[in-house]
Amino acid sequence: MNNFEFYCPTRVIFGKGTIAELSKHIDKSKKILMTYGGGSIKKNGVYEQVKKALEGYDVLEFGGIEPNPKYETLMKAVEIVKKENVDFLLAVGGGSTLDGTKFIAAASKYFGEKDAYEYFMVEGNVAVDAVPLADVITLPATGSEMNNGGVISRLSTNEKLPFHADCVYPQFSIIDPQVTFSLPTKQTINGIVDTFVHVMEQYCTYEVNSPLQDYWALGILKTLVEEAPKVIANPQDYEARANIFWCATCGLNYWISLGVPQDWATHMIGHELTAFYGVDHGQSLAIIHPRLLKNQKISKSKKLAKLAREVFGINEPVDLKAADIAISEIEKFFNSIGMRTKLSDYDINAQEAAEKIRDRFKTRNVAFGEKGNITADVAYDIVRES
Ligand code: NZQ
Ligand code: ZN
Repeated sequence: MNNFEFYCPTRVIFGKGTIAELSKHIDKSKKILMTYGGGSIKKNGVYEQVKKALEGYDVLEFGGIEPNPKYETLMKAVEIVKKENVDFLLAVGGGSTLDGTKFIAAASKYFGEKDAYEYFMVEGNVAVDAVPLADVITLPATGSEMNNGGVISRLSTNEKLPFHADCVYPQFSIIDPQVTFSLPTKQTINGIVDTFVHVMEQYCTYEVNSPLQDYWALGILKTLVEEAPKVIANPQDYEARANIFWCATCGLNYWISLGVPQDWATHMIGHELTAFYGVDHGQSLAIIHPRLLKNQKISKSKKLAKLAREVFGINEPVDLKAADIAISEIEKFFNSIGMRTKLSDYDINAQEAAEKIRDRFKTRNVAFGEKGNITADVAYDIVRES
């Protein structure tokens, strides 16, 4: 196992009726900016629950944060934070609302000359100060509720780039699985695939003798495979919704990544598909991941074989053969819950997408994967096959 350091200051408040506990965790003196997305919280009763729980607080609102949150929109909230002296941000919504709020938190405390997107996302400078934030998370997918990351898009340049900073860890996250009853099926599926691929990015690399992290990871995958059909069949199944949500949180709260190599190439290629073609984040991963695994099968074969045996119960003793089976079982699982996994399913020309992504990675001079071997040319091969 490799050396590691772990830090997570986020309090997790999980279960039925927990939105009512909001006031236990925010000081009455705070001036709050409540952020949200396109209005789902006003349809499913979450908005009312939050407003009720915050009676007596000074609360401003900022709605309209889009899926794949846009820098241009978020900077409008930064102006409000600065002008109104807001000193607490409460994100109420999915990963996009929360990621966007993390960015608002950091950008509100950034006083440099460059624009905040250039400084944090393009140059990769790490934020050192942020307005304190917390969330009521409404979509199981990103794990943003228990991590220090966010992914922000910029319309003017068609970019979608991640950032990380400890100062944007949520102080607390309220996870009431009941709020997910209202999710459109497409978003439920996106979230399951996103969680699955998060686990793969951290688990499916090469052996470093980390059995505990591996079994945690495989446990999350196995739980997803068992619970996903239940929520698809019955969206009001509280127990299954709760299990899926906890999988999503644990899928990217970094526990399974401690002391192990990490991949993240599927995500970096997927972000480009979203930036160029607007496909949902979960869809972009479902398209790229099976082809990336095929491309990297030999170097990932031990982990893939273990996955085939532990998650899918495959009794194949030869690692390379078991690895093949794992890859096809993963794609079958995505398809079985209603996720389409080919570029052609989304009317995207694979050759064109492959060229665009290769050119962009070449310009940025980047390579991804646990061995740094997913170069622009390898990404081209993967996308062309997708
Ligand atoms: O905007 P509203 O009206 O709220 O509707 C949203 C949105 O249309 C809706 N929704 C959310 N909760 C709902 C609901 N509808 C009904 N009932 C509910 N309970 O679902 C739609 C999608 O929401 P969004 O927040 O965009 O989805 P998700 O949570 O999947 O977030 C995706 C974003 O997170 C980034 C992705 O790149 C993408 O931008 N990621 C963030 C990560 C992180 N912070 O660590 C890691 C991930 O890999 C991911 O990249
Ligand atoms: Zn993701």
